[in-house]
Amino acid sequence: MPAGRRPIVVAAAAAAGLAALLAAGAWLAGRTTTAELETGRRLYDAHCAACHGKNLEGEPNWRERKPNGRMPAPPHDDSGHTWHHPDAVLFGITKEGLVPGKYAPPGYASDMPGFGGTLSDGEIRAVLAFIASRWSERAREHQAQVTREQGARR
Ligand code: HEC
Repeated sequence: MPAGRRPIVVAAAAAAGLAALLAAGAWLAGRTTTAELETGRRLYDAHCAACHGKNLEGEPNWRERKPNGRMPAPPHDDSGHTWHHPDAVLFGITKEGLVPGKYAPPGYASDMPGFGGTLSDGEIRAVLAFIASRWSERAREHQAQVTREQGARR
């Protein structure tokens, strides 16, 4: 599929009420320009690929704790669980890291850095849009659904 166009997801979002999606701070299911995806890819290579893998494949044996007790970086493609989280959570984790008590259990120690001091909000959205552009249609629909559900709970 050409980059930047996700007609099925956009149609589903429209049916469910695009206004509600936008009100919930959702954007991944929306339209993304080719330029934004290109920026996202560049930022991914520079800031994420070292841990999450050049092809979003994650670290080897990513389901097993490392000797220091911490989890390796999971894949960002369909084989991981990035697409299980709503937009606001993906944005928050990328900006702040896996903050214990917020995005992780209290006392949780993680190697995922927060990028709030490195990337602007727009850059974080672009890098996440790039990641989402690599998901299957099924994963994108699921992720749009959990985003809608989170918005509805507010
Ligand atoms: C220094 C290594 C490192 C870098 C660089 C890094 N991450 Fe991570 N990331 C991790 C680790 C490790 C985890 C899993 C943390 C855990 O479970 O404790 C993680 C988890 C995540 C998660 C949660 C995934 C899920 O399904 O729960 C997201 C989202 C994420 N990273 C996004 C990013 C983005 C976007 C970038 C680049 C801007 C990035 N990460 C750069 C190490 C890294």
